[in-house]
Amino acid sequence: MKRLIPFALFLMSPTAAFAGADDRELWISLGSDALAPVAEAFAREGWAMPAASLAKDDVTVIPVRESQLESIAHVMHEKFNRCAGFVTYESLDEAEKSLVPAPEPRVETLGPALYTLTNPTAANCMVGAVTEPNVRSTITSMAAYTTRYYTSTSGVNAANWLRSHWATLASGRTDMAATLFTHAAWAQPSVVLTVTGSTFPNEVVVVGGHLDSTSSGSTAPGADDNASGIASFTEVIRAMVACDYRPQRTIKFIGYAAEEVGLRGSKEIATYHRNNGINVVGVLQLDMTNYKGSTADVGIVTDYTNATQNTFIRNLITTYVPGVTYTNTTCGYACSDHASWTNAGFAASIPHEAVVSQGNPYIHTVNDTLARSNPPNMATHALKFSKIAGAYVAEMGK
Ligand code: BES
Ligand code: ZN
Repeated sequence: MKRLIPFALFLMSPTAAFAGADDRELWISLGSDALAPVAEAFAREGWAMPAASLAKDDVTVIPVRESQLESIAHVMHEKFNRCAGFVTYESLDEAEKSLVPAPEPRVETLGPALYTLTNPTAANCMVGAVTEPNVRSTITSMAAYTTRYYTSTSGVNAANWLRSHWATLASGRTDMAATLFTHAAWAQPSVVLTVTGSTFPNEVVVVGGHLDSTSSGSTAPGADDNASGIASFTEVIRAMVACDYRPQRTIKFIGYAAEEVGLRGSKEIATYHRNNGINVVGVLQLDMTNYKGSTADVGIVTDYTNATQNTFIRNLITTYVPGVTYTNTTCGYACSDHASWTNAGFAASIPHEAVVSQGNPYIHTVNDTLARSNPPNMATHALKFSKIAGAYVAEMGK
């Protein structure tokens, strides 16, 4: 491992000028090429650009104030046209640990036995049970919150609504429970629907997506980013009940808080699973599923994901959702919550609504509405991802 360059001496609270007592100091890691655009944005706001705390290879860690995260997210998105991400850390120590390479994926211990197609009864039932009106209904409900920003009251209300919606879907099943995963540093909780495995309850399969949206100051419906992903897998929960599918492994459906401000919710959850030695055998991320932007229906993101599991997902589509087409794509950075799991050493995949450069152009604006999905006012594209997630749960959960 290369030695980290200590810049700690320069850490004289560069952002202290305006910091209120409740405006916490945090650290973000970002590609070193993003430093100049962030510095320009800070200058425009009249903020001092902090000196780097750490640097390794082409990644730099800088201290920021919590109130600056939204501007940083904005500039990264605008300036890099979705080609740069950042990850937020609660302490410099945590940021430093992140610069060490991720451990070997735990999934390798289970070997190729994991990725077999031997449960067609459950897979075909769930693929056939999911419906477009149900997916659309969840998108409409989530997008109706003015914003789902992670510090906003409406963002907390949206998370609570999702928990109670999942609890209602699961009410007839004693093996299902809808809970909140609270985060000490901000108000919005993550939401977890656990289906306890009948035979291997200690082997966990995760299906998730972020429930937050961007702006605290204005309307941020986030219908595609990411009410759509939440809606796609919420319909799988309903299908599991309709098909009376009782998995042998534990399935956790997770709506992550605070993704838009540096993957904060999923990072805490993935770290929790790693620190507690929980055997997560696979992770499926759904983030943006309802805008058909490419010839192929699905973009399989090949960076920050597990190649073996990606192959399995292609096989699931070919076998169980044969009308759906796919192609490879890349984000080029840690663009969503799957990267939190990858960084924690677990096998994660993210089938996306399009080739990354051809996805929904309205995300992070007031125009990210169901009316501007593709096709408009429908959840037909998101339904394809419900089918993929249904097949995934059937074959990974057995
Ligand atoms: N849904 C996006 C990620 C995304 C955008 C994936 C376009 C594929 C195509 C996610 O909510 C997001 O906005 N991520 C941030 C980075 C994150 C680390 C704050 C982004 O892409 O700017
Ligand atoms: Zn986003």
